[in-house]
Amino acid sequence: SENTAGGSYEECRSTADWLLKHTQVRPTVGIVCGSGLSALADMLKDPQVFKYSDIPNFPHSTVRGHAGQLVFGTLKGKPCVCMQGRFHLYEGHPIQKITLPMRVFKLMGVKTIIMTNAAGGLNQDYKVGDFMVIKDHINMPGFAGVNPLTGPNDERFGVRFPCMSDAYNRELRQLAHDVATELGYSDFLREGVYCVLGGPSFETIAECRMLHLLGADAVGMSTVHEVIAARHAGMRCFAMSLISNRSVMDYDSQEKANHDEVLETGRQRSKQMEVLVSTMVARLDND
Ligand code: 6GU
Repeated sequence: SENTAGGSYEECRSTADWLLKHTQVRPTVGIVCGSGLSALADMLKDPQVFKYSDIPNFPHSTVRGHAGQLVFGTLKGKPCVCMQGRFHLYEGHPIQKITLPMRVFKLMGVKTIIMTNAAGGLNQDYKVGDFMVIKDHINMPGFAGVNPLTGPNDERFGVRFPCMSDAYNRELRQLAHDVATELGYSDFLREGVYCVLGGPSFETIAECRMLHLLGADAVGMSTVHEVIAARHAGMRCFAMSLISNRSVMDYDSQEKANHDEVLETGRQRSKQMEVLVSTMVARLDND
């Protein structure tokens, strides 16, 4: 294959076949856990765990707060595969390697992907600890030609020019709101636009003001690449941000974004995020 950066059909097929040989679970739901949010994987029954470093063709996770393993099991009776830790552009992985797990999941039979992340709040109404259902994204690296679908297209995954106007499944977003209402979480459940940047440096004040003006409600360094690859391959996507800090918008502020604040907010709200996501999984139909 000409796709030398990773993520070719053959490469994904051999990883999927290796996993299918080593686990009895046949997942229909894929879950990607964000920074500080990987305890969700501990809810899986009869877990089978694979360290990323043991899985053929998988990149290795390098970020504190990201465990770096794939967990198979059942969540509320649904067969699931859960990424405990994801890959980011700023780690230096080629973008096709970042999204390789999505294609592997597709080849294993996954129909629905649920993703979480920690993000900075740009919308001034948002509070630290809010959950934001992602209804749309702004792919900043994409503007500069950094897109996981760059390179020859393999029609076995999907079309050359996939539509992104329905990237975040409407029924799954509605389900999130319904479940949040039942759980008493609606006071801190928001819905908005997520903007991805390359990182690892956090945004400057001028960049935050610009992104806010452009219509972004939250900013982060993940998720969008995975959504693009997953939608290309025809899986339905749901993604939710935990607002872990407020972006600094004015020059008089003494606030500073830092990774410890991101992880601490995750610890405080992660239980509720787990309850919300697992209740959603329980309600999935034709998944
Ligand atoms: Cl403030 N910015 C970015 N880019 N990513 C984040 C974040 C902020 N907070 C958590 N992740």
